[in-house]
Parts: sequence; C-alpha cells; structure tokens
Amino acid sequence: MLVALALCALAAGGDAGRAFAQAAAPRVPDVPYDPTPHNVVAQMLHFAPVRNGDVVFDLGCGDGRIVIAAAKEKGARGVCVDIDPERMREARANAAAAGVLDRIRFLDQDLFATDIGEATLVVLFLWPEVNLKLRPKLWRELRRGTRVVSYVHHMGDWKPQRTMTVQGRLGERQLYLWTIASPQGK
Ligand SMILES: C[S@@+](CC[C@H](N)C(=O)[O-])C[C@H]1O[C@@H](n2cnc3c(N)ncnc32)[C@H](O)[C@@H]1O
Repeated sequence: MLVALALCALAAGGDAGRAFAQAAAPRVPDVPYDPTPHNVVAQMLHFAPVRNGDVVFDLGCGDGRIVIAAAKEKGARGVCVDIDPERMREARANAAAAGVLDRIRFLDQDLFATDIGEATLVVLFLWPEVNLKLRPKLWRELRRGTRVVSYVHHMGDWKPQRTMTVQGRLGERQLYLWTIASPQGK
C-alpha cells in the first residue's frame, strides 16, 4: 500500500513526491535473519562471560534471545537493536513473556546509527563484511574494557583474545571474543 502511494506521489512529480517516496522506502537489513541456536546462546553467556551489571547490546538482535537470556539468567541489562520492525515486535513479546521487559531497551533502527557507548558487552551475528565495516565504530565509541563477542564470523586482522567451537545448526561454528583497548582510555 505504502509503495503504491509512493509511486502515485512520484507520478504526480515534484519534490514533495520524491520526499514521500524516500520516507516510505523500506530499510533493507544488511544481513538476513538467522537466529543463534539456544544451545549456543547458553554457551555464549559463559564464554563472554555475562555478569550482573553488564549492559549487553545485540546489534541486529532478531527475536532478542541473547539479550533476554543475559537479563533473565545473569541479571544483566540490555539493548536490543534491529532494523526489522517484525523482529522488534517478537523481541518485545519474548522479553515480556520472560519477565525482563523492564531490563531491556528496544531500538528499532539501523545498528550503524546506534549510540553504543553505554555497552559493556556487544554481541554480533552478522556477516564478515558487516563486521569489518563496524570495526571503526566499535573502536571509536566503546569504552576501554568493553567486550565484543561474534558468533560465526571473525573481524579480519583483529586477533581474538579467545575462541570456542560450538555446535551450530549446520555443524561446528566459532565464538570469538575481543576486549577493546581504546587508546583514548575512555
Ligand atoms: C543473523 S541475524 C542475528 C539475530 C540475533 N543476533 C541472533 O543471534 O539470534 C541478523 C539480524 O540483524 C538484523 N540487521 C541486519 N542489518 C541490520 C542493520 N543495519 N541494523 C540493525 N539490524 C540489522 C536483521 O534484521 C537480523 O535480525
């Protein structure tokens, strides 16, 4: 319906039509949805490790399962970021069902436009090229000592501090851990 309206507005011509078409354009995720298996989520909580007091950001959080588990099992707080509104609805509903809605913020937005400075742990299950594109942002915005965990994909020549082999849906996969050692000493 929105697309049809946008096309009509464009056909009508003029700047107003173009502005409407831009505003209505759907945001395309950089990576399609593929949830981390629950068994891997449980291992990730120990691997990171997630502690009471952590602020866990999942950049591209899907149905919110990692942040929800961190809040429910470890008493962490979290921020769930996803560009897909359907995922956000699922994540909110799942957090409510788990009784941790008050411990999690939900940001329906592009992860690249998200302020991540509050994180003590960032979780990623993206694609290798997206991880690489994200590196400067992690380096710029995260405080010294913040941990970054990635499921499946590495960070190019950022040497991980630790790795762990886990059983993914399609076979063995890796968890990677880095700790930010920002020269700004923030
Ligand atoms: C592979 S899934 C991982 C989901 C979740 N982190 C997990 O491990 O179960 C990637 C998620 O990233 C989201 N995503 C992709 N590009 C994004 C972007 N630029 N900003 C925010 N979310 C994005 C997708 O909508 C999808 O839910």
